[in-house]
Amino acid sequence: MSLFRPFARFVFSDWTRRGIKFDLLRLRVKLFGPRRYRKPSSPLMHLGSGSTYVKGWVNVDVAGADVNIDLTARPLPFFDNSFEAVVSQHLIEHLDVETEVMPLAGEVWRVLKPGGELWLSTPDMAKICRHYLEDGARVLHEYVRRRDPLSLPQNAPERFVVNTLFFQRGYHRNLFDFELLSWVLCQCGFTDIQRVNEKDVLIRFPAFPPRNDDYEVLMVRCRKPSGGNR
Ligand SMILES: C[S@@+](CC[C@H](N)C(=O)[O-])C[C@H]1O[C@@H](n2cnc3c(N)ncnc32)[C@H](O)[C@@H]1O
Repeated sequence: MSLFRPFARFVFSDWTRRGIKFDLLRLRVKLFGPRRYRKPSSPLMHLGSGSTYVKGWVNVDVAGADVNIDLTARPLPFFDNSFEAVVSQHLIEHLDVETEVMPLAGEVWRVLKPGGELWLSTPDMAKICRHYLEDGARVLHEYVRRRDPLSLPQNAPERFVVNTLFFQRGYHRNLFDFELLSWVLCQCGFTDIQRVNEKDVLIRFPAFPPRNDDYEVLMVRCRKPSGGNR
């Protein structure tokens, strides 16, 4: 192990090493994670929970959650019609739309009860582009500098913030605006697709911590139709 790290550093870029580390986590849950369908301990699922653990919800992620799985390896380990609501914040931009987001949304549809709700948030391509066109992203840069100064290179021009939010050092694979995300959700059978904001999320699900990120984020709520089983 002591020789492996310097060797890996010599051979692979930072970006590749991060990818390998994440793939090893995915491999671990694929080998040892839950396989059988189960009845969840709560009818509320927090998908891609990461470091935002929400009490009373079934937090799902690749590690450190209540249920550790690879979200891109189907199926979700829950019975059909198990959940009343699924919330996922800042997950879908990390996944490939065709091969990962759509199959995962299809699985969310399956495990939701008819009439159940899916709430999603992700960086808003339209808001970020609007900021760039309006003032070269000056105000957006100031906003990000206050919240997360380390995400910006020192003394970089203000418009650099667009790279930060779009690509997040290579972690993001797709951005969405309302129309694009609605199309994805519609393809997967969701209806009643509406744009919401953080206040709506906090009123409906007070267990979630506030993020104050309406400024750059798209939030959408949709439903599995009440009559809904394919
Ligand atoms: C940017 S974080 C967001 C975390 C949390 N939702 C938040 O907003 O604080 C994205 C999360 O998605 C998870 N994730 C990405 N791809 C995944 C996969 N294939 N399987 C399981 N989790 C995955 C990561 O582990 C990470 O915790």
